Amino acid sequence: MNIDKIKKEFPIFDEKIQNNDLVYLDSANSSQKPRVVIDRINEFYTKQFSNVGRSVHYLAVAATNLYENTRVSVQKFINAKDKNEIVFTKGATEALNLVANTLGQNYLQEGDEILITELEHHSNYVPWHFLRKSKNIKINFAEINEDGEITLEEIEKKITTKTKIISITHLSNVTGAILPIKEITELAHSKDIVVVVDGCQGAPHLKLDMQDLDCDFYAISCHKMYGPTGLGVLYGKKKWLEELPPYQGGGGMINEVKKDRISYGDLPNKYEAGTMATAQVIAFDQSIKFLESIGIDNLVKHEAELVEYGQELLQKNNSVKLIGNPKNKGGVLSFTIEGIHPHDVATILDEDGVAIRAGHHCCQILHDKLNIPASSRASVGIYNTKEDLDKLNDAINNCKKVFDLK
Ligand code: ALA
Repeated sequence: MNIDKIKKEFPIFDEKIQNNDLVYLDSANSSQKPRVVIDRINEFYTKQFSNVGRSVHYLAVAATNLYENTRVSVQKFINAKDKNEIVFTKGATEALNLVANTLGQNYLQEGDEILITELEHHSNYVPWHFLRKSKNIKINFAEINEDGEITLEEIEKKITTKTKIISITHLSNVTGAILPIKEITELAHSKDIVVVVDGCQGAPHLKLDMQDLDCDFYAISCHKMYGPTGLGVLYGKKKWLEELPPYQGGGGMINEVKKDRISYGDLPNKYEAGTMATAQVIAFDQSIKFLESIGIDNLVKHEAELVEYGQELLQKNNSVKLIGNPKNKGGVLSFTIEGIHPHDVATILDEDGVAIRAGHHCCQILHDKLNIPASSRASVGIYNTKEDLDKLNDAINNCKKVFDLK
């Protein structure tokens, strides 16, 4: 794979950022966008724009077809059985809220339990917390081991006769642990437990196969997959999407509206109320084509090599402490540096053109568990190289010098 060539497809890398070449190591937060995606948005607004699913004029029908083409591309990309199992949302957060809200209305009873993990970011905790308040649901936490992993055994240990839902991340945005979703789902289904997967980090870094994973729901964040912001995908098994109530009411999701009754549209319209993120959906087709042109196996291999290389570099760097050491690890290198606050680390690295994230990464529960207020995190994407990780290491060394650390 020619990474230099791939990198040239991302116009941001032609820019000087504060007079530096950009070393972008914040893809877990949001990835950069290839030219094909940027151009597609521009082209759609310039030459093809119309709302979808409503009017019958030429532009409207053409836009609707383009919009539906992306649905089929997503279906194929994640190997879902049916295109109507793909629902567009305004983000993975909305997808997870949709699931929690509708399962909460139709499926959960007072006293039921939901099992999540200490790795979850806030989008896969707060929506369930709402049900604690409104339905008196209990939330249990599977705990990380010393390597920052969640094992199948730990999940099994935390399941009780009241567990109705397991909602878990596919890949931790802090420790990088990849969870054994297929095995967890098998176990959960043997006990009639619904499985919801937060795929915010899984989808950009792993090969997805919904029929093989067999989970009931899977939430995707498109802006982390080289796609536009303001767009997410919810995969849901047809039986669930048919059975559950709509999440939001408005145009496009109804069948018949009378003064005394309303019936809802068929899938997937039932969950797509109001004017959708039309341009984003249409441009996301290009993100998928871009990923397919690289080949997911190639992407996985490249990122695994980067993470291994970065991990070795940082392990050798005095005063740097890596967070988590999972056997199965993807995309992220989180760390602390003794005596330097992560925000100072990120600010000083930025002066060298190295963009990382510092903070709790929307994972306060995990940081509490680790007994640290915050951490620094370098996360990789398809455009990163080993040289980027060398620059990260050099910038960390400069930062240590500022603080008189060896
Ligand atoms: N977007 C968040 C991250 O940076 C959750 O991992």
